[in-house]
Amino acid sequence: MKITTLLAGCIVGASSAVAFAKAPAQPADIDQLLKSMTLEQKIGQLQQSHIEEAATIADIPQSVKDAIRQGKVGSFLNANSLVVANELQRIAIEESPNGVPLLLARDVIHGYKTIFPIPLGQAASWNPEGVKQGARIAAIEASADGIRWTFAPMIDISRDARWGRIAESFGEDPYLTSVMGVASVEGYQGDDLSDPTSIAATAKHFIGYGAAEAGRDYNTTYIPTPLLHNQYLPPFEAVVKAGAASIMSAFNDLNGIPASVNRYTMDTILRKEMGFDGVLVSDWDSVIEAVVHGVAADLKEAALMASKASLDMEMVSTSFQNNLAALVAEGKITEAEINTKVRRILHLKQELGLFEQPYTQASRQAVKNSAEFRKVAQDAAAESLVLLKNDNAILPLKAGQKIALIGPLADAAHDQMGTWVLDGEKKNSVTVLEAVKAEAGKIRYVRALEHSRSYDTDDFKAAVKAAKKSDVIVFVGGEEAALSGEAHSRAGIRLPGAQEQLISALKATGKPLVVVLMAGRPIELHNILPSIDALVMTWHAGSLAGPAISDLLFGHIEPVGRLPVTWPKVTGQLPMYYNQKNTGRPPTSRPFIFMEDYPIEANQHSLGHAATHMDIGFAPQFPFGFGLSYSTVEYGKASSQKARYARKDTYTFSAEIANTGKRPVTEVVQLYIQDVIGSVTRPVKELKHFKRVTLQPGKKQVVSFTLKAEDLMFFNADAQRVFEPGLFRAWVAPHAEAGEAVEFTIQ
Ligand code: BGC
Repeated sequence: MKITTLLAGCIVGASSAVAFAKAPAQPADIDQLLKSMTLEQKIGQLQQSHIEEAATIADIPQSVKDAIRQGKVGSFLNANSLVVANELQRIAIEESPNGVPLLLARDVIHGYKTIFPIPLGQAASWNPEGVKQGARIAAIEASADGIRWTFAPMIDISRDARWGRIAESFGEDPYLTSVMGVASVEGYQGDDLSDPTSIAATAKHFIGYGAAEAGRDYNTTYIPTPLLHNQYLPPFEAVVKAGAASIMSAFNDLNGIPASVNRYTMDTILRKEMGFDGVLVSDWDSVIEAVVHGVAADLKEAALMASKASLDMEMVSTSFQNNLAALVAEGKITEAEINTKVRRILHLKQELGLFEQPYTQASRQAVKNSAEFRKVAQDAAAESLVLLKNDNAILPLKAGQKIALIGPLADAAHDQMGTWVLDGEKKNSVTVLEAVKAEAGKIRYVRALEHSRSYDTDDFKAAVKAAKKSDVIVFVGGEEAALSGEAHSRAGIRLPGAQEQLISALKATGKPLVVVLMAGRPIELHNILPSIDALVMTWHAGSLAGPAISDLLFGHIEPVGRLPVTWPKVTGQLPMYYNQKNTGRPPTSRPFIFMEDYPIEANQHSLGHAATHMDIGFAPQFPFGFGLSYSTVEYGKASSQKARYARKDTYTFSAEIANTGKRPVTEVVQLYIQDVIGSVTRPVKELKHFKRVTLQPGKKQVVSFTLKAEDLMFFNADAQRVFEPGLFRAWVAPHAEAGEAVEFTIQ
């Protein structure tokens, strides 16, 4: 389905103005408008306040109305009712000193009313077009309620599955995250920000938030500057180039300086080096938290630091509002500096067309949760599913098989939507239970555990009984939505509650066991994996998770998802990522003995001396990029067009991919490169490109990738972006651990 078809009606519906008494200010010239504003009114534009959810005009607090009338606020977050949004705009236009419209913002993270898979699931589709379409739909729905600014996409590199916000990320890889981040920005913002269905995107969180020590949310981060450039900054650079309207500063302290007052990262890197001139907004209270971090003595100093670090807008806390005028009076900040910030905010309002049309038409309400949008969400859910194990081709299920559907998340209308859902409603979800019943008719269903954290095993007997009477067991478990997301980090990532016990009890029946996992992160399965015959990772796939999962189980669709994160065997391996360094003692190069096999009273030198864990080894459970199909795919040997390239050449790598099975396949063909010798140690592999290729049974295709020197540049020990000629390796492979390398040199 073409998104343009979906949009046509919406744009027409939005085009005619709502009639209100006074027209908004017309800042053909923003400088003109600035001249008519007092310093206090300018500072007012830098304030983003929170409005408690208000359904009707009568619910709008007096303090909110007063703040607008006094010109003390430029933006609100969390208004989500159309009448309220229009009324707030009316007050701003008709009753505030300069008639400047408001920026109304809300977290629209993976859908507004129609909920798409969590971002980590979207990344598993490796389909940027799909991600763009999802963001477009979210924008159409949210803008129908007057929301013109969202705080997404989150493009924090996430190497640690303990961190709850990994769910909101596109995973561990800078290239995949960049591609998905750009797609998302393009979807939210549309072709033109002034289109009433476009909303400004916010790339977040700047910077390094995902590197929280021990995966504990908000925790300290230490990232050496070259690593920051090579791993954490590329997605931000990509979205800045793609025209992201705003960026949000992070909560964490990075190398000792809290990110929201960090002049080096925000002013030097983001503004000066990357050339970002959009709105830089803080996270919720993150400016004043500089005091709690212990780098600012008081709120005034926090405001000064954030302002000097080139932050434009403060979210919720009011240190700018209360202190910037005094700081200007004291000569610590110039009015010109304030003007620069206000100009960026007014410019965004102008780009969004708010000066021409601040109001939203009520006629657009019907787009929300429409059948067309739900169909796109179901396709997105289907593409996010990753088949991780399928012994004896248990899946797809065979016609006529008697099914026992067991587990706490089989009928989880709320939890299947995942974290950071403010507006999706569970009444609009279709669960796995509903979808499987619709497909298979009579099945045996036992919830067995009330929720994913439950330890009450009373219903296990009923579950085992149902399993015994069936041909195949489908267990749906994992993590409820509330076990991942902001402030929802876990120190251990095993299945919560008594789920492992339940899986063991089900396996003991001798029936084939399919596990459908719903979770906001990879789950530690090491102990339990041998009991599982087939495993499908579904993340939290959104409103239409049920039909998508059912279609996959019954083979109406092919599994196409691939992991956007390295899946550890046990929590203790974290942080874990495929683009690690070789070390001086790579475990792959040395004999390795597991702890169990050591001789008793083994001496100091019996351990193999390699970078590994003696109890678990070094390999992940499933590598980055991994995912099975219902068909079989063979990769031919990768080749390089030349053995030696000149730097100015383009470098081309190819491999033949063949569908050797009986079903169609959509293969995510991945190109990895290793820069073998560098002035600093380089990752063992780096994803540089990927292509999704659909092949019918028996068909094959040569898949080629072309790179340029620019794609192989990196930041050296002095944080200089360099290209270093020499020996390289390339892999054209189905995942980060597969394939044979082809070597080439660049002079
Ligand atoms: C989160 C942001 C979010 C903001 C506004 C914060 O707690 O870190 O990602 O956009 O709240 O809701």
